[in-house]
Amino acid sequence: MNAIVIYKSKYGSTKTYAEWIAEELGCKAVDAKQIKIDDLAEYDTIIYGGGLYAEVIAGVTIITKNMEKLKDKKLIIYTTGITPLDCRDYYDKMVIEKNFKGDIASKVKVFNFLGKMKMSELSLVHRTALKTLKKIMSSKENPSEMEKLLVELCDADGDFSDRNAITDLIQYVKE
Ligand SMILES: Cc1cc2nc3c(=O)[nH]c(=O)nc-3n(C[C@H](O)[C@H](O)[C@H](O)COP(=O)(O)O)c2cc1C
Repeated sequence: MNAIVIYKSKYGSTKTYAEWIAEELGCKAVDAKQIKIDDLAEYDTIIYGGGLYAEVIAGVTIITKNMEKLKDKKLIIYTTGITPLDCRDYYDKMVIEKNFKGDIASKVKVFNFLGKMKMSELSLVHRTALKTLKKIMSSKENPSEMEKLLVELCDADGDFSDRNAITDLIQYVKE
């Protein structure tokens, strides 16, 4: 196995997971900014990690726009986010539909991890976006369970990263 971990991380959580995974696999973890798609030709296993921002996996298009070039590779994608991991409709439907068009979902294996959201570290743009989202969701008359959860998550403040969570991914890579 010749693997590489690539990540896009604004606040560091996805990078931390990339380093943990790379350490377990004995391979490199590289910021996606430093990667051109042709650099990946030499690897047979590509692990891409991105934080979730409004259900979008940050930077994942480096994979999804290059499926032809990556077609013979084992492709693994992990997300980091603050939505509880038991919200399977969120991860298995909303996130998948938003990020993987056509048959791409059947060609990648996706893992979801809890990340970090520390209010004091967020950019002004992100803090404002969360405030606006909370205001909109709070004003709904009959909010769905998901909308109620979103209101709560807007106030999440902490680091929920967990090294033990990568076990299944590592096992899948080694299979
Ligand atoms: C503006 C904003 C939008 C976010 N949207 C989502 C989301 O849709 N789903 C989710 O689970 N987490 C969401 N999060 C939480 C981030 O995904 C989480 O903090 C993640 O660990 C960030 O990764 P990073 O530290 O590598 O940048 C959001 C955070 C911010 C600031």
